[in-house]
Amino acid sequence: MTKVIAVCNQKGGVGKTTTAVNLSAYLSQMGRRVLFIDLDPQANGTTGLGINPNSLNKTVYHLLAYNILPYHWFGYKSQQLK
Ligand SMILES: Nc1ncnc2c1ncn2[C@@H]1O[C@H](COP(=O)(O)OP(=O)(O)OP(=O)(O)O)[C@@H](O)[C@H]1O
Ligand SMILES: [Mg+2]
Repeated sequence: MTKVIAVCNQKGGVGKTTTAVNLSAYLSQMGRRVLFIDLDPQANGTTGLGINPNSLNKTVYHLLAYNILPYHWFGYKSQQLK
């Protein structure tokens, strides 16, 4: 069964990114399939996973700001997106 875990808190510097990155890494190590969605404009979670956010030209920002869906990017239409 799919579970959604949101790590969010209005206060800064309380360990949101650290929790999200490590929780994702350990769940993955335990064999769970993990989709890490970094909604932080600082993109520290992305960096923490070893990805340079400046190297990406398609990000969740485009999804939210321009309503561009993944199947527009990748040229296929997923049944689950309907
Ligand atoms: N369990 C912990 N014990 C000690 N230090 C921690 C712990 N979790 C996080 N930290 C440290 O606290 C600092 C802030 O952590 P983090 O960047 O994850 O917070 P954040 O809530 O994502 O911050 P921001 O609001 O700026 O995005 C970092 O230096 C991190 O290494
Ligand atoms: Mg953070």
